[in-house]
Amino acid sequence: MKLFDVYPVNAIEIQKGQGSYVFDANGTKYLDLYGGHAVISIGHTNPHYVNRLTEQLQNLGFYSNSIEIPIQKQLATLLGEVSGKANYQLFLCNSGAEANENALKLASFYNKRKKIVAFKNAFHGRTSLAVAATDNPKIVAPVNETDNVVFLPFNDEIALEKAFADFGNEISSVIIESIQGVGGIQLASDSFLQKIRTLTTQYDAVFIADEVQCGYGRSGKFYAQDYSGDEADIYTMAKGMGNGFPIGGISISEKFVPWHGELGTTFGGNHLACAAALAVLEVIKKDNLMNNALEVGNYVMNELKSFDKITEVRGKGLMIGIDLPVELKAVKDKLLFENKIFTGYAAPNVIRLLPALNVSKVEADMFLEALKMQLNKY
Ligand SMILES: Cc1ncc(COP(=O)(O)O)c(C=O)c1O
Repeated sequence: MKLFDVYPVNAIEIQKGQGSYVFDANGTKYLDLYGGHAVISIGHTNPHYVNRLTEQLQNLGFYSNSIEIPIQKQLATLLGEVSGKANYQLFLCNSGAEANENALKLASFYNKRKKIVAFKNAFHGRTSLAVAATDNPKIVAPVNETDNVVFLPFNDEIALEKAFADFGNEISSVIIESIQGVGGIQLASDSFLQKIRTLTTQYDAVFIADEVQCGYGRSGKFYAQDYSGDEADIYTMAKGMGNGFPIGGISISEKFVPWHGELGTTFGGNHLACAAALAVLEVIKKDNLMNNALEVGNYVMNELKSFDKITEVRGKGLMIGIDLPVELKAVKDKLLFENKIFTGYAAPNVIRLLPALNVSKVEADMFLEALKMQLNKY
């Protein structure tokens, strides 16, 4: 049997990881500023994480949601504390798409409406509703197509007001990434996020903050939406939540009253996944990683300002987009194959930095030096 060939891959086999470094089959060391797509939040094979998962596995790996699972409650308590949302409720699932799927569904159960407002260049995942709310027709199969999703321009307050004025009573939810990831590190303005809050409240629609990529401390605040000073009704999360162990979740405001059977999953919230997520939060809290994300992120963005070949640098904390002219498309691969540094990419030619939240300034300097060296070739 062969693999279903859907991924374009780099010809590198990573066999080992430690902190912000990974090692290939030949023992070559790479600096990882991509984190397997924003997933590695506390560094590869973090000792506390490895111990917690090992201990849990030796006791019990899995049992279904039909029994008491105290570690889920521990996770909810710590997540409530670290995210500053102790009054919210937690539903656990397995991925980012599933988190968004459940959030959109919950919104519709809540207000019995069908329309979803999403934004240009949004990416919310590949399952049915999540992909329907994703602005990329190429990955939307005919069966996923629906008139229930309306795409509006990102950061356009007038268009948003007009949509609510025209059909506000039909809108179930507004879903937004406060920092678009796949869309190329585009930041929603505070006033746009505030406008979403005002209009969703006014029309009893649900404000869903998709924090799958920009959340979990990456921006320097727990949720990137926190910068707007308002609260969303539902926050969706995944990627950094398990540092590589598949887990997703939605943090749900008090106004949603659950009923048995409303949402459900076999694997979501299993013992091992909760142990992974608890270990991540414990490290984020103990090592003050949101502060580090902000400090190192600001440092990198400031330094990049003096690079004259860069067209624009955008980001918050450790979610950074570096726009390069399209003629310099080879730079990302040169960083990987010559300098041994993993970075991410977004169209048309954006280098995306999504490192672990405990990446150091020394490691950031290694990247800055390498980028300078590559850009000087042009
Ligand atoms: C903002 C955002 N939402 C949702 C998803 C989907 O997450 P997953 O791949 O875990 O389903 C992604 C993945 O890249 C994402 O960046």
